[in-house]
Amino acid sequence: MCGIVGYIGKQNAYPILIKGLHRLEYRGYDSSGVALLNGQNKLNVYKAKGRVSDLEESCATKDTLGTVGIAHTRWATHGEPNNVNAHPHYSQSENLALIHNGIIENYAVLKAGLINEGYTFQSETDTEVLIQLIEYVKVSNNVDLYTAVQLALKQVIGAYAIAIIENANPDLIIAARKSSPLAVGIGKDEFFLASDASPIIEYTNKVVYLEDEEIAIIQRDEPLKIVNLNNHEKTPQITKLEMNLSALEKGGYEHFMLKEIFEQPRTLRDCMRGRINVENNNVTLSGIIDHKAKFQNARRILILACGTSWHAGLIGEYLFEEFCRIPVEVEYSSEFRYRHPVIFPDDIVIAISQSGETADTLAAIELAKEAGAFVYGICNVVGSSIPRNTHSGSYTHVGPEIGVASTKAFTAQVTVLTMMALNIAKERGAISQTRYEQTLSELSNVPAKIKEILELNPLIEDLSKTFTYAHNFIYLGRGYSYPIALEGALKLKEISYIHAEGYPAAEMKHGPIALIDQEMPVVVIATHDSTYEKTISNIQEIKARKGRILAIVNKDDDKVRAMADFIIEIPETEECLAPLLSVIPLQLLSYHIAVKKGRDVDMPRNLAKSVTVE
Ligand code: AGP
Ligand code: GLU
Repeated sequence: MCGIVGYIGKQNAYPILIKGLHRLEYRGYDSSGVALLNGQNKLNVYKAKGRVSDLEESCATKDTLGTVGIAHTRWATHGEPNNVNAHPHYSQSENLALIHNGIIENYAVLKAGLINEGYTFQSETDTEVLIQLIEYVKVSNNVDLYTAVQLALKQVIGAYAIAIIENANPDLIIAARKSSPLAVGIGKDEFFLASDASPIIEYTNKVVYLEDEEIAIIQRDEPLKIVNLNNHEKTPQITKLEMNLSALEKGGYEHFMLKEIFEQPRTLRDCMRGRINVENNNVTLSGIIDHKAKFQNARRILILACGTSWHAGLIGEYLFEEFCRIPVEVEYSSEFRYRHPVIFPDDIVIAISQSGETADTLAAIELAKEAGAFVYGICNVVGSSIPRNTHSGSYTHVGPEIGVASTKAFTAQVTVLTMMALNIAKERGAISQTRYEQTLSELSNVPAKIKEILELNPLIEDLSKTFTYAHNFIYLGRGYSYPIALEGALKLKEISYIHAEGYPAAEMKHGPIALIDQEMPVVVIATHDSTYEKTISNIQEIKARKGRILAIVNKDDDKVRAMADFIIEIPETEECLAPLLSVIPLQLLSYHIAVKKGRDVDMPRNLAKSVTVE
């Protein structure tokens, strides 16, 4: 889900494409590549694992001529990051080259059909299937490239932003999108194509953003033509860009963290896509189905992680125990590896990590494998060390997370754990069909509810002013909300440098209550759940000591409202899904407090995005 750049015009395309790829580097990627038509019937494709500078180095001695070309940064979803899996991908005849951002969900079925027709594949990607399909449709129906793309895309389920060039036609780029962004820049006698306007803005401020299922026919010396999959032509709507470059890279947001918080409705849909089928009321994770017996016979689940991923693991514990009735232990990887843990061969170990490179978690995995346990990874970075060193697993599919404070990766980890719990519970016959269907259908409503909560951003920003003075914070929650109290506190301390502690609300009276006075802000997650009344008693204990209460409540709440100093209202959901909603206002609160305090939100002091040392 990374970057696309394209150029057609009078200039040499290669330098423009490379500069464009550099402009898109902020999105994070693992490999890159470029395809150029050199004007002498030669479609050249060059690719390199690593940085765009590695691609430049490998192209230094190559033929990079041509006034039309496409270029790509890849964030692997299917197949590890290497030169073969990098884009562009050729079609079988090497007459076409394609770049793609997104996921072709039904690639396996399409691939099987194409193999039957005699097609062979070089890479492990879903993308290569698409270009072979386009060529197959083009040849078997004897149609032009545009019609072939239109017909092929009708067979595709998934998300895509694509660009294609054709050896036989050096005056054409075909581009299309669904769920992944794509913009066409209109210059004088030239066109630019990119995932966002940042590679375009220095050449032209006229941009057309493609809508879902639209195809752009970008032809040299012709006006831009936009047609949808049903062949309806549309007049291109030109947007005048008025943004500066750095704002564009962050999608118009001031910081990556805020952008990533706001991406969550989409990233959670991406995370569930192809796994949850709402019509059939079904959730399947291939990583579980491929090892069904292991999950059916598991006696215990051990969850290993660090930091925010460990908080996701705690929610996993509640989910697995409630739905699957399997005992669960959640461990800090760093503690687990050094304390002579007891591991059984019929244990399932789940390692959770955004980066897939956390040294302590990797070492803990090795220990578990040595003891004969089955290890399942939940990671975001495709092809990173943890997915390569586990027996099975699920990617979170949220795209690169740049802000050091984990936000969208956390909600996706919790979503994967929820899907796992439902899938395993079903396999073990531990859940009723009604409960299964209810929770599944409510899980698919979560992205829309998060969107609703994000509308509270101005209110939360306003509220944050009240708290910039504070030197300490306490966060409280019970049950499923307890890990969210921990996560809320961690988010605040990481980026604002304010000391914060998360506690199970009932534990407060065993110590932390001594800290409470009129200076102490206490954030309480008090949504309607099975311990709601108990949480109210805890709020009363704080009130009696004059603490300042900020409560996260459900919309129709009246009891907490009467006691709290400030409230943030969020929509109601099932108790087990509440963490996915209640964490959102806490992410925003930490963000705004940190901004008000002038902190470096995306790169807080002393922290690294990927902790590759013990
Ligand atoms: C999260 O906001 C932190 N930056 C940190 O706790 C992080 O979750 C931890 O280092 C684990 O990283 P991982 O998920 O990449 O393994
Ligand atoms: N699914 C494609 C792949 O794994 C595209 C990934 C991307 O969006 O960069 O190659």
